[in-house]
Amino acid sequence: MDERLRISGAAPARECVVGLPAAEEPSAAWSICGRNQKGNQLMHDRKGPIRKISVAFPVIGETEKRYVADCLDSSWISSIGKYLSRFEEAFAEFCEVKHAITTNNGTTAIHLALVALGIGPGDEVIVPTLTFVATANAVRYCGATPVLVDCDEETLNIDVRAIESKITARTRAIIPVHLYGHPADMDSILELVKKYNLHVIEDAAEAHGAKYRARTVGSIGTCATFSFYGNKIVTTGEGGMVTTNDDELAAKLRLYRGQGMDPNRRYWHPVIGYNYRMTNIAAAIGCAQLERVDEALARRKRLASWYSSELSQIPGLVLPVQKDYAEHVYWMYTVLLPECSAETRDLVREFLESRGVETRPVFYPMHLLPPYEENPARYPKATQISIRGLNLPTHELLTEADVAHVSEQLDSAIRSVRLSLCA
Ligand SMILES: Cc1ncc(COP(=O)(O)O)c(C=O)c1O
Repeated sequence: MDERLRISGAAPARECVVGLPAAEEPSAAWSICGRNQKGNQLMHDRKGPIRKISVAFPVIGETEKRYVADCLDSSWISSIGKYLSRFEEAFAEFCEVKHAITTNNGTTAIHLALVALGIGPGDEVIVPTLTFVATANAVRYCGATPVLVDCDEETLNIDVRAIESKITARTRAIIPVHLYGHPADMDSILELVKKYNLHVIEDAAEAHGAKYRARTVGSIGTCATFSFYGNKIVTTGEGGMVTTNDDELAAKLRLYRGQGMDPNRRYWHPVIGYNYRMTNIAAAIGCAQLERVDEALARRKRLASWYSSELSQIPGLVLPVQKDYAEHVYWMYTVLLPECSAETRDLVREFLESRGVETRPVFYPMHLLPPYEENPARYPKATQISIRGLNLPTHELLTEADVAHVSEQLDSAIRSVRLSLCA
């Protein structure tokens, strides 16, 4: 039994209650009481503890613990230490690039890349409207303007056909995001980059190990950025990375990351830099994670194939695609619900929640958020996808039985919500 439950003297967690009418479900009375080692949150309802399948779960093993203990024992706990160079070297090899520069999170990685590329006030940077807010925020941190582009309805990535009309004399860079683990269509982007002499920063926060025409993401653009937040495929708790093949850019990235201090002259700061350094402790976790990344990626692919076979029979449900140029890593298994409103999507989520299945909606597109607000009619596909999109539990510890359970509950949720709307 899970330690926390034993300490509290509660009964063992029972399986989710299946098949009760919504009115009898106890969701309102739930409270989280912990997480077990199988990636399930343990919840309390009125009748006692209940299992909940989490949307994401970090897998932390004995190697991670050993490496972290080594940092603590050796006292190398800040941003100097052997695990930092080891993690950078291993990650560069993983992405097939010359340089990998650690940062303290994925947002600072994007900001650092923009700063090192000299992007600032008056510049425009093209970003997909359907992304996590960090992509657009990092552009604003530089005083530059994010210019939004609608998404492709199949891959959910930036619609490459819509980019060129957004390029102006002020455009300096494009940031394609490999959303939810599926690579963006890089060839079309690289053509534009060449034609208009732009930089391309791949935002690969969600796509560790994904491939575009057999090239690992992170090795295709001028540079690329990654996040190692706790829900990512490779995690360091909080953390980030910038990868590049450009020696000069790599040197600038290191300079700006470390307060702009000249590497050959202590306390001499020729530029205004930042403290965006990763700790040796975070890098130690990253080293351990990278040692088993192939297994992590294989498990996610297997999980996606289970979902795809379980869900293929649900009428109107749109499953994630994998284009012929892509190797998807399924950071999230994202489905589009049959035509619905945001309220209906929320009812489906509530139903699933009441059956112990955690989900996440797709991100709000930037054009719907107050700092970036624009007319939704200009971005019809992203607007629709943000209404219909649903991320199902996607992590390495889910079993085939878990996937069958989630799929069955999703089927029931769609039916039940449809019935209640017709009544
Ligand atoms: C697409 C994308 N870009 C950037 C980030 C920012 O990364 P972090 O949370 O590590 O700052 C995230 C985080 O989830 C993300 O999903």
